[in-house]
Amino acid sequence: MRILGIETSCDETAAAVVEDGRRLLSNVIASQVDLHARYGGVVPEVASRKHLESILPVIEAALDEAGCAWDDLTAVAATVGPGLSGSLLVGVNVAKAIVFARGMPLVPVSHLESHIYANWIGQDGEETPPPGFPLLALIVSGGHTDLVVMEDHGRYRGLGHTRDDAAGEAFDKVARLLGLGFPGGPAVERAAAGKAPSLRLPRAWLPGSYDFSFSGLKTAVLRLAHEREEQGLPVEELAAAFQDAVVDVLVTKTVRAARAERVKEIILAGGVAANGALRQRLLAQSPVPVRLPPPVFCTDNAAMVAACGYFRLLRGVTAGLDQDVIAGLGFTPV
Ligand code: KG4
Ligand code: ZN
Repeated sequence: MRILGIETSCDETAAAVVEDGRRLLSNVIASQVDLHARYGGVVPEVASRKHLESILPVIEAALDEAGCAWDDLTAVAATVGPGLSGSLLVGVNVAKAIVFARGMPLVPVSHLESHIYANWIGQDGEETPPPGFPLLALIVSGGHTDLVVMEDHGRYRGLGHTRDDAAGEAFDKVARLLGLGFPGGPAVERAAAGKAPSLRLPRAWLPGSYDFSFSGLKTAVLRLAHEREEQGLPVEELAAAFQDAVVDVLVTKTVRAARAERVKEIILAGGVAANGALRQRLLAQSPVPVRLPPPVFCTDNAAMVAACGYFRLLRGVTAGLDQDVIAGLGFTPV
């Protein structure tokens, strides 16, 4: 089964073809990063207009790269939420037009659930075994931070989530505070590279809970950034101390949950999963095997949407042409 995945939830226009949920045939991503960088963040109206311009060429490129004709496709999977309404609408409506014209099923996909499926995509034709259940998923993106036990395909049990800023959002805000630019995650990681933090910033442990909180940490960086001039603290020190605090909390809680839940493995997902310090510390401290998608499948892409769509289609999950976008969709799949 070949599934065309379409992803337009934020500022990446993406299309991909994946066979049987694991074999990557193509993966095309048109990033809008340069367009939004001058504003220091994603401007929703600008994003949706750009999606409209890019979506058809991106889909055509994905089919070309996969060597696929329309008739070779089994279904179209599209992200219906969470995300920016105007952006989601572009991908969902194009998906509806394709399935209507070609008589194919439409599979509605949650952006958060699809991030998890980045871990199913085979790499370089390698036949790696699929993740084994039950597993623990840490989803860390620009909008969400969720720790979830996955018992099987489609069966999730949420353990914790962020009570304020998402991990990626904290990276983005701190990058802005420190004048490191947009997107913040990679900028903070570059600034922190090779630095053992000499400062220790506060961690919100929220004892007895698997929830997270990053807004206090951001405030601590803000305070230090103001004092920075007087103390002669380099920006790199602050970036390293901030990254260390985020990674410490994420890894400690994930490892604790993996032990308590006796999971077979841990999988990492979402844009922040591209962070080298997080990947290394989780690998070093985990009591069970850790699966780390290559960075290109951590940040937004459509291959994960196609992979997720395949497993949903196997369970008979499809949508009608009245499927709406759900900007505020939580982790719970549609
Ligand atoms: O999953 P994603 O591409 O989009 C959302 O669903 O939000 O995640 C984007 C987030 C941004 O906040 C970005 O700063 C962060 O992921 N990010 C990183 C890194 N690369 C992207 N955070 C830390 N280190 C990175 N290397
Ligand atoms: Zn995402």
